[in-house]
Amino acid sequence: MDTIRKIIREENLKVPKHVAIIMDGNGRWAKKRNKPRNFGHVQGAKTVEQIIEDGYNMGIEYITVYAFSTENWKRSSEEVGALMRLLQKYLIDCIERSTKNNMKVRVIGDKTGLDSKIVSKINELEEATKDATGLKFTIAINYGGRDEIRRAVSRIAEDVRDCKLEPKDITEDLINNYLDTAGLPDPDLMIRTSGEERLSNFLPWQLAYTEFYFTDVLWPDFTKEDLLKAIRYYNGRDRRFGGV
Ligand code: FPP
Repeated sequence: MDTIRKIIREENLKVPKHVAIIMDGNGRWAKKRNKPRNFGHVQGAKTVEQIIEDGYNMGIEYITVYAFSTENWKRSSEEVGALMRLLQKYLIDCIERSTKNNMKVRVIGDKTGLDSKIVSKINELEEATKDATGLKFTIAINYGGRDEIRRAVSRIAEDVRDCKLEPKDITEDLINNYLDTAGLPDPDLMIRTSGEERLSNFLPWQLAYTEFYFTDVLWPDFTKEDLLKAIRYYNGRDRRFGGV
């Protein structure tokens, strides 16, 4: 048996069902090596691959990562271009890989702000993996939590206007169904790498009761041992969801 799975069993660790990750520190990782920032993003994409494989092996069912925020457009056009090319390549490779390992992929965020070539790759990938029953992998691209809520509110308002809904129908469950994450359980654990301890507009509605784990490790250096540390930390927390 895989050593990490053995440790999880021996320590009787409860594995979080859904883990959300802010993959921070790619730029600093590259800078330490006197390389351009994009070198860090390329390495970061490899880490994503490894962590989704390791995470699934450990028993995690849902992984959601923050790949590009609505604020990331403020970076240099060179960096934005490189990140978009990297994401496009990743989406293409992912079609083959996810059909092979039964992974279901979803992209959240505002697709109207993305290049049509990327949107068509996203649609292809979501369609190709829609019936997969393995890991549910969600990638946030051009995602901002407040923007997601704004788009949901706008669609709810349209449905009220069109008499499909009444204001009294607007429950938390209904709002969940209008968010990009409709159908996904809320994350149990949120990990942010590189020492920053902010949410940066990542899933603010969905993370209301989530445990947060922060580590100084830069994302390209993040390994399954670091994931195990996060899971141990999660097991030390007492989740009461507002109860006593
Ligand atoms: C934050 O590090 C990272 C990003 C803004 C991009 C994340 C993208 C990847 C890990 C690669 C592509 C993703 C997928 C799903 C294949 P930073 O650039 O802000 O680092 P810094 O804080 O050290 O400058």
